[in-house]
Amino acid sequence: MGDSDSTLITGIGELVTNDGDDGGYAARTDAALVISAGRVAWTGPASRAPAADAMVDAGGRAVLPGFADSHAHLIFAGERSAEFAARMAGRPYHAGGILVTVAATRAAPDAVLRANLRRLAAEMLGQGTTTFECKSGYGLTVADEARGLALAAEITTEVTYLGAHVVPPEFAADPGGYLDLVRGPMLAACAPHARWIDVFCEDGAFGAGEAAAVLAAGTAAGLGARVHANQLGPGPGVQVAAQAGAASADHCTFLTDADVDALACTPVVATLLPGAEFGCRQPFPDARRLLDAGVTVALATDCNPGSSFTSSMPFCVALAVREMGMTTEEAVWAATAGGARALRRDDIGHLGVGARADLILLDAPSHVYLAYRPGVPLIAAVWQAGNLAAGSTPYAPSAR
Ligand code: NIG
Ligand code: FE
Repeated sequence: MGDSDSTLITGIGELVTNDGDDGGYAARTDAALVISAGRVAWTGPASRAPAADAMVDAGGRAVLPGFADSHAHLIFAGERSAEFAARMAGRPYHAGGILVTVAATRAAPDAVLRANLRRLAAEMLGQGTTTFECKSGYGLTVADEARGLALAAEITTEVTYLGAHVVPPEFAADPGGYLDLVRGPMLAACAPHARWIDVFCEDGAFGAGEAAAVLAAGTAAGLGARVHANQLGPGPGVQVAAQAGAASADHCTFLTDADVDALACTPVVATLLPGAEFGCRQPFPDARRLLDAGVTVALATDCNPGSSFTSSMPFCVALAVREMGMTTEEAVWAATAGGARALRRDDIGHLGVGARADLILLDAPSHVYLAYRPGVPLIAAVWQAGNLAAGSTPYAPSAR
């Protein structure tokens, strides 16, 4: 489809638009949608659909906004399946495993990192993810962080500098020196490739003061702030995120009432990453508690070779519904509009008129099936900015 052509998708059994009050969850049945110039041009009842240059009959299937995966670590080499197997045999997860991937990533040529990144991005697209964020954090030298971010910037605009992932071995005796590097020359080399800065605020990684200093430097360099917060135990991460005006506090697995209040009273999105709790055999975050307190909740994969090696947003939706107290509507909203808010984007995550035409055709009649049929490949087709980017339409688009 060229940019000037329009496509009518009709016969939609359930169309999730997320264009309710204040962008809340909304859906309509027996619906149609028109794509024009890469945007949503019209939505409404199928019986009133306007003519278009091409038509797709959804045959009663559901259409959703594409998933916005707002937290992923895709720039790495190697894998850690033995570490996963050991965890499943009873060993705990610890941040030190990150250094195994750091060594493999430093040793890998650009071509290997690029191929791995693109393979994972394709995997995501096939599972309905139309926007993804990508962090560095396995290079931890000026050159390795900058090259990773440059590779990520080739395929996504949501690029995050995570030099403050852990202190690398060569700075083990001088963590302050590493912090100076992260806030100084490494930031200078990385900021041109990135939109965001992130810090792993946790025992074994960076403390509250260090994390705040990293975010302040990043913000001064024009980057938006995000924080890995309260993943492995209670800690200051959420408060650091709130004080820094971060877009998102991610993980939020171990929260005090004061942390929940801080999230409810600020625009910080709580991004929950149930793949990590699955992969580390930890308790899942309590989404119900956050939602009941009025916190904006997003779901993301945390795709990385250590804690959460899944690229599947449908898997995260299923876990959130089954294990975290979310309704199916809340989970789908969190995986689409919630991810968009965590990335401070208003052009994605919904299918209101004017939104980017990023959408998923499910091989199922409603969004409920994402949790009702876990592990089943239900993504029939994916459009990105109006172009069919993965899968196929049930009936070939035809001129009418
Ligand atoms: O978000 N927590 C910090 N970083 C990743 C894990 C990275 C790894 O284990 O390689 C996470 O879970
Ligand atoms: Fe992460």
